[in-house]
Amino acid sequence: QKHKVVVTRQLISEAQTLLEAVPDLDIVQWPSEGPAERSWLLEHAKGASGILLMLSDKCDEELVQTAGESLKVIASFSVGTDHVDREALKTRGIRLGYTPTCLTDAVADLSVMLILMAQRRGGEAIAKVVKGEWPKMPWSPLLMTGPQIRGSTVGFLGFGRIGQATLKRLLPFGIDRVLYSTSKPGKPVNEDHFGLLKEGTIPIEVAKDWRHLAKESDIVIVGCALSPSTKHLVNAEFFSEMKKLAVLVNIARGPVVDTDALVAALDKGEIFGAGLDVIENEPNIAADHPILNQPRCVLVPHIGSATIETREQMATESVKNLLAGLNGEAMVNEVRL
Ligand code: GLV
Ligand code: GLV
Repeated sequence: QKHKVVVTRQLISEAQTLLEAVPDLDIVQWPSEGPAERSWLLEHAKGASGILLMLSDKCDEELVQTAGESLKVIASFSVGTDHVDREALKTRGIRLGYTPTCLTDAVADLSVMLILMAQRRGGEAIAKVVKGEWPKMPWSPLLMTGPQIRGSTVGFLGFGRIGQATLKRLLPFGIDRVLYSTSKPGKPVNEDHFGLLKEGTIPIEVAKDWRHLAKESDIVIVGCALSPSTKHLVNAEFFSEMKKLAVLVNIARGPVVDTDALVAALDKGEIFGAGLDVIENEPNIAADHPILNQPRCVLVPHIGSATIETREQMATESVKNLLAGLNGEAMVNEVRL
């Protein structure tokens, strides 16, 4: 019997070839570049055994129910799985694949870019030059200055693979100390992905609570998954505890940071700056959104994993996860539901 699989995007060549080489597969694929329409997905999900989808495709009760009893596997082209209703899958024994490992380097690289952009006022600096304001900026010792990485205490909200890979990159910059918090407050991380925690090059401590982390960090990096307990974890109270010269970086999910509170904190000078790869309600950010009026905030359009190498690997791993799910085999990475 032929398995029907629905794929909500055209895939990069190697992944596409891998998928097409599978015998007895009925492949239904969104025909164009952009995101699949919801109505298209629901229409074609009926009777599917597997669905390969992006983080822009909601995988909820409606979709799972529409697919029906044939559905065995969801393969998400992402590390985050907050767009997937885990309960809807778990209760039906449907497996969930994701791509948490291959994008670690790309996202950690972007974290460093955002730290530097926020500390060194990259967005503001580029805007001034582009607007022709450079000739009206007479040089002075404090012109366009910001804090430096050396000597910083770095606070990680969420300290999984990406957080730890970011730390690895920051060590040569000469940071002094690390504080981190995980989904289980007060508990150390369960996986030391890069052997950094054992090494003990600099103090790496579990924060007592978010307040401790907010108060003592010069750089706060949001790298936790989005869940009811992390939504607006960084809020007005958090900002009020932060240092005036501290920067906030979010490479996780927009709703972990309360955007209104961030705008207010920047307005009041409670923090020095911010670097965001994600924001609440993305990608629907209007040109008059108040965050865009904040010279000290750099916002890029969710490009954390956007290296050519990483996106190719994500595509290939997603296809492998999909096929493993169909065949009852081990996935490259599977979410424990
Ligand atoms: C990106 O945000 C992802 O979850 O892959
Ligand atoms: C959180 O991201 C953790 O790894 O505990």
